[in-house]
Amino acid sequence: MKERISVPDVMNARDPLVMVTAYDAFSAEVAKRAAVDIILVGDSVGMVIQGQENTLNVTLEDIIYHAKAVNRSQPSALVVGDLPYLSYHISPSETIRNAGRLIQESGVDAVKLEGGQVRIPMVKALVSAEIPVMGHLGLTPQSVNRFGGFRVQAKSEQARNQLKLDALALQDAGVFAVVLECIPSDLAAEVTEILDIPTIGIGAGPDCRGQVLVFHDLLGMGYGHRPKFVRQYANFGEIAQQAVSAFVLDVKTKDFPATEESYRPRREKLTTVRAID
Ligand code: KIV
Repeated sequence: MKERISVPDVMNARDPLVMVTAYDAFSAEVAKRAAVDIILVGDSVGMVIQGQENTLNVTLEDIIYHAKAVNRSQPSALVVGDLPYLSYHISPSETIRNAGRLIQESGVDAVKLEGGQVRIPMVKALVSAEIPVMGHLGLTPQSVNRFGGFRVQAKSEQARNQLKLDALALQDAGVFAVVLECIPSDLAAEVTEILDIPTIGIGAGPDCRGQVLVFHDLLGMGYGHRPKFVRQYANFGEIAQQAVSAFVLDVKTKDFPATEESYRPRREKLTTVRAID
């Protein structure tokens, strides 16, 4: 079996890094067969699996449940578990306890949390507890109410400068990589230039050191709005609907199941009945 990609492997990678989200054994197996570098058990699970409007109701138990399923497929990728809303906002000690549970109960290799300078005490606490941390800046979905929706971030000069300070603060605090979500491409390029750690972009242009997409978005598994930054590589929504419609028709017209899809009637045992003398 191929060894798992490690945190140092990610930090030292020369080729562009590929990260996808996965939430179950199937998506993790697909990621493994496609040689993905990093699997993120993202809190996007709330939106793409649970059907919620945002990620705010996802719990630590949800992430543990999905990360366990992902790890059962024995991925070769580094597996990162998202710390959900309120699991790292209260205190450094609560953050260590929650991240430690995620690591111990699900077997993820690292955790991801959202935010910059304001999260530094929590990042430092995790790093001192030997828990590798991935940062996340820009359109941080757990801030959706403060942002007033899912919008491109860091457009003003002040916001651009703040994002650069946040990125440097995260790096100084010990994060091993940082996700940049929905920010102008030139800012992502600048951040990538000033950091030593890899940046992984989603809606952040071509100059990040890696790219991430949500599994369901890249496969077209859904019927909702598709953000501009998503390249859809398949249309599973349509394929699945066509397949299920065909099944419905076959059952209604009694075409399914056919003889070859059915078990033969049990053959009676040929027992010779001996006449009783
Ligand atoms: O939860 C998630 O899927 C994410 C990615 C969009 C980076 O945080």
